Amino acid sequence: MALTFHKLHPLFGVEIGGVDLTGPVDPVAFGEIRAAFEEHSVVLLRGQRIDDAQQIAFSQMFGPLETTVSTNPAGGTPFARQSNLDIQSGDVIPPDDRRMLYQKANFFWHTDSSFKKVPALCSLLSARLCPPEGGDTEFASLRVAWAALPDDMKGKIETLVAEHSLAYSRDLVDPGVMSAAQRAEIPPVKQRLVRVNPINGRKALYVSSHASHIVGWPVAEGRKLLDELTRHATQPAFCFAHRWREGDLVIWDNRAVLHRATPYDSVKYKRLMQRTTVAGDAPTVAQ
Ligand code: SIN
Repeated sequence: MALTFHKLHPLFGVEIGGVDLTGPVDPVAFGEIRAAFEEHSVVLLRGQRIDDAQQIAFSQMFGPLETTVSTNPAGGTPFARQSNLDIQSGDVIPPDDRRMLYQKANFFWHTDSSFKKVPALCSLLSARLCPPEGGDTEFASLRVAWAALPDDMKGKIETLVAEHSLAYSRDLVDPGVMSAAQRAEIPPVKQRLVRVNPINGRKALYVSSHASHIVGWPVAEGRKLLDELTRHATQPAFCFAHRWREGDLVIWDNRAVLHRATPYDSVKYKRLMQRTTVAGDAPTVAQ
């Protein structure tokens, strides 16, 4: 069956129809999905009532999967579970539980795993249970953001490197959420501030809530620049919100978009989203 393509936003994102992930995916169809991912940065596939094994099989077509770090309540598995439901009992987790606090960091604009030496290529988020209101995921194009910068700013930042760390973004929620041992396990890493897509040569800003400062600059000055660039990248014209339906699978390019979760009533409603994360292939800069 031929695939269909509909833009999600004038500047980025595409919905692809004619795909069924409950069975093997034809390599030719996958080639088209992969090309659309490189081109549009966010890909939506609706009506995919998949289980964990089917999600893993499809995700692995993009490359090897990351396992979650041990600070994540689902640590050591291929799934970064985004949910207010206890994995064993299925009961709603109280809002002040550490597992819910941990997820609050997702309310900041970020790109997945930029705190790892080799940052993630893409993430695949599968909607298993959705609240009837709230809980959208928002996306912002870092390519559009780069292209819209004035030339003098492009020249100033093109070769800069930022330091990223999970502890930095978690501390923004609650400095107690990560133990000293967990901090030591995931030390800060360096990432280029501007990345180039290896297939189409398009450049993207590479900012994230994990980015704490610019290497070689006074911390406050670097943080000010990072805040300014993040505000620029997330201006409303460069963003859209995805309103989830059960069965949606959204794939995003962590090299080219920021995303953030948005609140919902986690006492009243159930939300269960399973995220797989595909590893990148190399560091963006020597460590
Ligand atoms: C994420 O930040 O990876 C998850 C986003 C969401 O739960 O909406």
